[in-house]
Amino acid sequence: ALQTVMKTAVALAPDNWIPGGIPDPIMRQQHGSIGKALSRIDGPLKVGGTAPFAAEFALEGMVYAAVAFSTIAKGRIATIDTAAAEASPGVVLVMTYKNAPRMEKVPLFGSSPKAAGGADLTIMQDPSVHWNGQPIAVVLAETQEQADHAKTLIHVTYDEDPATLSFADAKAAGTDQGMFMGEPLHAEIGKAEEALAAAPHKVDAAYLTPRHNHNAIELHAATIAWDGDALRVHDASQLVAHTAWSLSKVFGIAEDQVRVSSPFVGGGFGGKCLWDHQVLGAAAAKLAGRPVRIMLSREGVYRVVGGRTLTEQRVAIGADASGKFTALIHTGITAMTSHNAMPEPFILPTMSVYGADSFLLDVRVTHIDMLANTFMRAPGESVGTFALESAVDELAAAMGIDPIELKLINEPDKDPLMGLPFSQRDVEKAYRDGAERFGWTDRPKTPGSRREGEWLIGMGVATATYPYHRMSGGAARITLTRDGHATVDIAAHEMGMGTATAHTQVTADRLGLPIEQVVFRYGDTIFPGVVLAGGSQQTASIGASVIEAHKALVTELLKLAGNDSPLAGLKPDEVGCFDAGLAALEDDGRHESYASILSRAQRDELVVEAAAPPPLELQHWSMHSHGAVFVEARVNAVTGEVRVPRMLGSFDCGRILNPKTGRSQFRGGMIMGLGLALMEETEFDERNGRIMNPSLSDYHVPVHLDVPEIDVIWTDIPDPHSPMGARGIGEIGITGVAAAVANAVFNATGKRVRDLPITLDKLL
Ligand code: MOS
Repeated sequence: ALQTVMKTAVALAPDNWIPGGIPDPIMRQQHGSIGKALSRIDGPLKVGGTAPFAAEFALEGMVYAAVAFSTIAKGRIATIDTAAAEASPGVVLVMTYKNAPRMEKVPLFGSSPKAAGGADLTIMQDPSVHWNGQPIAVVLAETQEQADHAKTLIHVTYDEDPATLSFADAKAAGTDQGMFMGEPLHAEIGKAEEALAAAPHKVDAAYLTPRHNHNAIELHAATIAWDGDALRVHDASQLVAHTAWSLSKVFGIAEDQVRVSSPFVGGGFGGKCLWDHQVLGAAAAKLAGRPVRIMLSREGVYRVVGGRTLTEQRVAIGADASGKFTALIHTGITAMTSHNAMPEPFILPTMSVYGADSFLLDVRVTHIDMLANTFMRAPGESVGTFALESAVDELAAAMGIDPIELKLINEPDKDPLMGLPFSQRDVEKAYRDGAERFGWTDRPKTPGSRREGEWLIGMGVATATYPYHRMSGGAARITLTRDGHATVDIAAHEMGMGTATAHTQVTADRLGLPIEQVVFRYGDTIFPGVVLAGGSQQTASIGASVIEAHKALVTELLKLAGNDSPLAGLKPDEVGCFDAGLAALEDDGRHESYASILSRAQRDELVVEAAAPPPLELQHWSMHSHGAVFVEARVNAVTGEVRVPRMLGSFDCGRILNPKTGRSQFRGGMIMGLGLALMEETEFDERNGRIMNPSLSDYHVPVHLDVPEIDVIWTDIPDPHSPMGARGIGEIGITGVAAAVANAVFNATGKRVRDLPITLDKLL
């Protein structure tokens, strides 16, 4: 077991640490458990099969749901005959728009701080159909098999309306300015088109990325029960508090009548939010008067849960003779629906990765009648870096410059659009360290020049990037008991990435306790906070909340310690936490244990709760993480098959709290990036709006044999303006990978593939 042996007391963060750049005192902590490769504390529960997931709660009297999906893209249900389904064995209820309870719309994500909905549509309230695959009926039965069978007995006819289904038709009908979180996706500095025209060196190319679907291993599921007006939801969720509030709006009940918990999640990449199935499950449970388990089939996830939409991007770069960018243009079009809020914001990486004399960045959107698309790991950056970093590689090749040198020539010294200083940025170190470790100097100088038998071999590189975010709403409760145990409660989420482990470590160090004496509880709306596991911001959000709760704890402890304590007279900012107690920061030996303070005060425990301050640090600093992704590609000259035998990610993401879970996060992201590069593609039938490959046999993701040795290193330089010095690492791993693969394929073959995925047909 890890024993915390702390050499110095951990002080309180000063009140002005957030905007002013005064560091979290724990950010360089080297003596405690931060930075230790602790195994996941939830690991034994998972490998032992005792961790309950959303579809594994067996409730008394529970029935099972099956969902029927529309087979037209737009129109109305003309007739729906449920008699045969209702008469089928075991069926308890068939719910359609005709008998569903009246429900308000799910508040659309972004429309208010706790809104969780993926689409701005009512659910099963009228006969209208908005996408091919929309739920049109829910069957409840005594067994899943009975429900699945009965749904096949429902007969539907439709009145179809003309739908816009092809990207070309949608573009011809017009485009609108893309808006993201209330801001136009548009930026201009100088006259970029003129600068491009005048540039002695330039590239100007179009890049295409397809639709992608969410394929978390755990299917979307919820087990739901009503007790009078109180709604209990066991969900698979990355936003329990948002979901509870949003469901309260849908059903017109008080927020505290809804409890949503999600202690274990089998993967969430932006898709484990509030979609139709939780609402339908709750509505059907209400109608039937019985608890409901609703687990979408794999096909169901494709029909009900939005994915990443397609993009058509232009990147044009003008450079002077030295390689300095005089013009950086990144524009294009993405498809979305008229009832969601997610234009794939592919220009986001280009807003901060390079300096240039002039910029033109713009996202246009066009509307297609389809399932509302949504967030998917690094929305914007994943596919945006494919275009940007392919184009930079193309320019480097055209100019005969090493791509790494071209990137470093254009490294900005402040945020190129906002003008703010960077909070911490060492892209050069990430590149230099990565290049050395990967053996970049061994890269073939001429594309297509290295061959082993049938295999052409090349290397590519690209920049990974993702911003630091911290959303408002974080809060934490700390309970300290007389026997020296601390429990931290926060409505955050452990989706398999190591959050619970990392924050147990951080809290232990902050409180001066061994990790065995700290329990981190999460994933339940009975805990404080409105915390989204998304935007790679959960760690910062939790960290900021725990800092505030820690301050409150120390203040209360000093009050309880009183005049009989060796600490009498000291103010909260004059003590630190050390060796299971408080110590004078002056290091004069004055110390009193928590146990001693609480027992003298005749208290068994002390409970404090505090909310994190708003994320003011983002008004003072440009805060972004970066990485350098190195890929070796082998392309079969006969078949066009691409294999990736080697990848390296070299990251500059602030302090890494746990190298074991951190390395796993980076690797997982890079594997998803490999899928983005080579395999993933939702096949959308533009004749009828149907997704044609809604299964893991037809929608390809990397399997073990596709995934090479992935080496991961990092700078571990703390960000002085973020809690714990950490910036969040959930999404950056997927970014840059597709371009690094495409660039390696170019180096291997001399062929430039500008539309994803890079399948073998594009190389023959
Ligand atoms: Mo992520 S797309 O913020 O889960």
